[in-house]
Amino acid sequence: MKCDFLIIGSGIAGLSLALKLSRIGSVIVVTKTKISESNTNYAQGGVAVVQDEGDSFASHIQDTLLCGDGLCNRDVVSFTVKEGPERVNDLINWGVSFTKTGEGLQYDLGKEGGHSKRRVLQGSDFTGREIERVLVERVREEENITMLENHVAVDLITTTKAATEEKVCHGAYVLDVDSDRVKTFRSRSTVLATGGAGKVYLVTTNPDIATGDGIAIAYRAGARCANMEFFQFHPTCLYHEDAKSFLISEALRGEGGILTLKSGNTFMDKYHSMESLAPRDIIARAIDAEMKKNGDSYVLLDMTHKGKDFLVKRFPNIYLQCLGFGIDMAKVPIPVVPAAHYLCGGVCVDEHAQTDIKNLFACGEVACTGLHGANRLASNSLLEAVVFSHRAYKKIAQDRGMAEGQEITIPEWDASRVTTSDECVVVSHNWDELRRCMSNYVGIVRTNKRLLRAHERVRIIAAEVDEFYRRYHITKDLLELRNITQVGEMIIRSALLRKESRGLHYNLDYPQKSDSALRDTIITKGIKDWGF
Ligand code: FAD
Ligand code: SIN
Repeated sequence: MKCDFLIIGSGIAGLSLALKLSRIGSVIVVTKTKISESNTNYAQGGVAVVQDEGDSFASHIQDTLLCGDGLCNRDVVSFTVKEGPERVNDLINWGVSFTKTGEGLQYDLGKEGGHSKRRVLQGSDFTGREIERVLVERVREEENITMLENHVAVDLITTTKAATEEKVCHGAYVLDVDSDRVKTFRSRSTVLATGGAGKVYLVTTNPDIATGDGIAIAYRAGARCANMEFFQFHPTCLYHEDAKSFLISEALRGEGGILTLKSGNTFMDKYHSMESLAPRDIIARAIDAEMKKNGDSYVLLDMTHKGKDFLVKRFPNIYLQCLGFGIDMAKVPIPVVPAAHYLCGGVCVDEHAQTDIKNLFACGEVACTGLHGANRLASNSLLEAVVFSHRAYKKIAQDRGMAEGQEITIPEWDASRVTTSDECVVVSHNWDELRRCMSNYVGIVRTNKRLLRAHERVRIIAAEVDEFYRRYHITKDLLELRNITQVGEMIIRSALLRKESRGLHYNLDYPQKSDSALRDTIITKGIKDWGF
């Protein structure tokens, strides 16, 4: 199949870019399952953006830098914050409705951990669903956009220029799950908008699609990836045996929610002056420490003092979901645990979302832009996605005239050597083992010994998965396992390379920050001397 622009992923990054690129060429969006299934669809809190007169760009920039713990790229933080209001206007113009105050004149701004001001635009407590709904509607109206569901990108198609050794991307191989065939897509520009990788861990707020595919795909193609050790654990995921991965938004703590132990005693005052609204890394570590000390499997988030009327109005989705699990949050505190939530690292991109590989871009959670540094400030992710997808659009539009007309011959996918496996248990077993290993050894608090142990295990799993991949017919499960294994290995390797504790990476063997470690952890394929 041929198009001007191939976009892989249909969350906020992929769809907002598709809408803009459709003005200048033909767009194909491939997406793994249903169009709306994405991390975006589950976002609760909102989009951090300066709106209020009492707020300022300087303050949002300062909060972002503080949270990033020394590793943010200052220029990136500055332009992202400053371009935020315009990009949010794009969403509003497409039809996204953010909640307004009672009089309907101003936006009802929420507050979240690490923000010194109220600046989170929200669509009630299901902001992401509102954004995704509108983007899907607009995309369906565009004739220039072809939307292909149940299409899983396998790998990129690249060549290397002999004279300069520069890599060039020409499209991707994509598994069409319904016809069980790998199709070849040729495009002038290809965009990875595949989102995050929460499924690398056992307990996560992310939906099933979040298997780090774009990162693994770019890494295999030779692109640099950075800061994979900085995995953000959200402090408050609902703890209930029937709840798969339901987030209890930080906005609850923004409205006065209090974290307590099972006994009802508060504990956050021991860890940070902002108590229950401290940055996420500090709260997640505090909860982890208290649970281990007391032998508890969860802590509590108490909202009972806010009253039913307020809770139902401000958090209708969360109120109802909790009620469905038998928890009336107006009457009893909500049991919560930390869960893998957001990967701050990803595919290295420049200020135009361009990767190291020519004609390959990466936008949204898949990318490492320099905005988040060692820790992401709440609600800065949706912001980053719209700012960088717009920048990618501008760059692609500007370079269009210079695009190389080189028509290389792309080989069709070769499926002739592979047979169907009768050993699918290998796939399901390794899925489970990989995620358990990551949760037990590469979680919120790390040690060198645990990381080395995890690395050994993951490399064994990787070898087994690789053999399976080469010999047998590919399936979506196998592709995802291959990718979470790759991403898991990258997280462990990056964690071993960072010999300090900073932001989201906490290693008991190096509990302090070190000036000499104040740099990004950059990894590429093929380097065997890893330095640990
Ligand atoms: P996604 O929205 O995850 O979209 C990725 C897309 O790529 C999906 O369509 C997926 O199916 C597709 N895909 C993946 N792999 C492949 C493949 N191999 N082939 C084809 N398609 C593929 N951030 C905020 O700023 N504010 C919030 O309030 C907030 N709340 C959150 C709440 C929850 C529960 C979660 C999980 C995250 C939250 N985040 C929030 C983070 C934010 O939602 C995400 O970082 C952001 O939505 C990512 O957008 P994206 O477009 O990059 O990726
Ligand atoms: C939340 O609503 O707590 C999630 C916000 C975010 O991840 O930015």
